[in-house]
Amino acid sequence: MERLVIKGGTALKGEIEINGAKNAAVAILPAAILASSGECVIDNIPNIEDVHCLERILGVLGCEVEKLGENTLKINATKMTSVNACTEHGSRMRASYYFIGALLSRFKEARVDLPGGCPIGVRPIDQHIKGFEALGAKVSIEHGTISVKAEKLVGANIFFDVVSVGATINLMLAATLAEGTTTLENVAKEPHVVDVANFLNSMGADVKGAGTDVIRIKGVKDLKGCNYSVVPDQIEAGTFMIAAAATKGDVTLTNVIPKHLESISAKLIEMGVNIEEGDDTIRVFVDKQLKGINIKTSPYPGFPTDVQQPMCSLLSSVEGRSLIVETIWESRHQHVDELKKMGASIKVEGRTAIIDGTDKLTGAVVKATDLRAGAAMVIAGLIAEGSTEICSIEHIDRGYPRIEEKFKSLGANISRVQR
Ligand code: EPZ
Repeated sequence: MERLVIKGGTALKGEIEINGAKNAAVAILPAAILASSGECVIDNIPNIEDVHCLERILGVLGCEVEKLGENTLKINATKMTSVNACTEHGSRMRASYYFIGALLSRFKEARVDLPGGCPIGVRPIDQHIKGFEALGAKVSIEHGTISVKAEKLVGANIFFDVVSVGATINLMLAATLAEGTTTLENVAKEPHVVDVANFLNSMGADVKGAGTDVIRIKGVKDLKGCNYSVVPDQIEAGTFMIAAAATKGDVTLTNVIPKHLESISAKLIEMGVNIEEGDDTIRVFVDKQLKGINIKTSPYPGFPTDVQQPMCSLLSSVEGRSLIVETIWESRHQHVDELKKMGASIKVEGRTAIIDGTDKLTGAVVKATDLRAGAAMVIAGLIAEGSTEICSIEHIDRGYPRIEEKFKSLGANISRVQR
């Protein structure tokens, strides 16, 4: 079993390059099967476990997948042989469900394991199913597998009951090759949603409005391969910004889009952190005492749920009381019990964490209960006195490429050990 061991107390300093976005890449890889001619060469793909799982599923479907570099993949889906994406890999992660939209679009049929992913509360897919049915598909779920089939797909108006990243992307995929126009309303506006729309358009699709509340997709006859570079990761960037602030460091992030980070920057500035934005860089440094603040997560452009757990570690170590209200997921405060082992003073009431800052966190053996909880533990370890040992780090590897190497390059005392 691998663990991360961190000796806290070093201020992070230097420059760090942010990777391509996990939550864009995990949709773009399944979307690549929509190309019935040519190859997709996709760059800036993060080298993470969720991506490796998707590569294996692409192989099972009969796609040729070639690694051209650490962050570049060539995918040729022209000779695909199967519409059955059920493998041991699919149920381990969330994004395998994007194969439903992509396979349905191209072959009018798909079989996919019901998705897994982080244990952060109930994760229904009713909005995806409602959308597929509106396009003319029949959907059935048996023995943990979802099967979707259509004679033909015809464009429709779909109004989502909740703002869902996954349903928005899955329906964009499903509608690209449908007859006529599909209108998706009350959609998610996250940078990764826009990135998937840009990728589809690079393949020849006609998707308009991504980044607003309404997306219109005019079905086209077929899609072809393209060259594409994945958008920088808003969440990895947010994690490093928070780590820089938590250690009272001075870190410049490169390969970022500062606009995507505005909600995170605004909250850090409110605490007293200094932020300097460049065109594709952001510098985070601290030269005064930080104070507690209140945060409420919400869909983009609001404060991202995926960054609230790392933020909880930072707020545990600053003066005053802070509140974090989680509005997206019903149980995304599981990291709190782990932080308490390190001396944090946090009470959870329903979806709200009430944090009383302490000036001393102390190292302990803690668990990464999910992906972003793992990032929260790393940040807590970086500020704590003494040694912190994090177990269950497979969660962290699902979403953060080479996390210990990246923090080490900023001066952190962190290593991966076998226990
Ligand atoms: C994506 O999950 C991300 N995962 C999550 O990031 C992220 O937390 C979430 O979006 C919100 O930003 C990927 O992109 C792979 P949703 P997704 O559909 O698409 C409800 C991480 O840490 N809902 O936007 O599964 C749902 O219960 C991960 O990287 C329905 O009710 O999330 C939730 O309350 C964790 N019915 C809300 O909508 C549906 O059919 C938002 O979920 C779909 C969703």
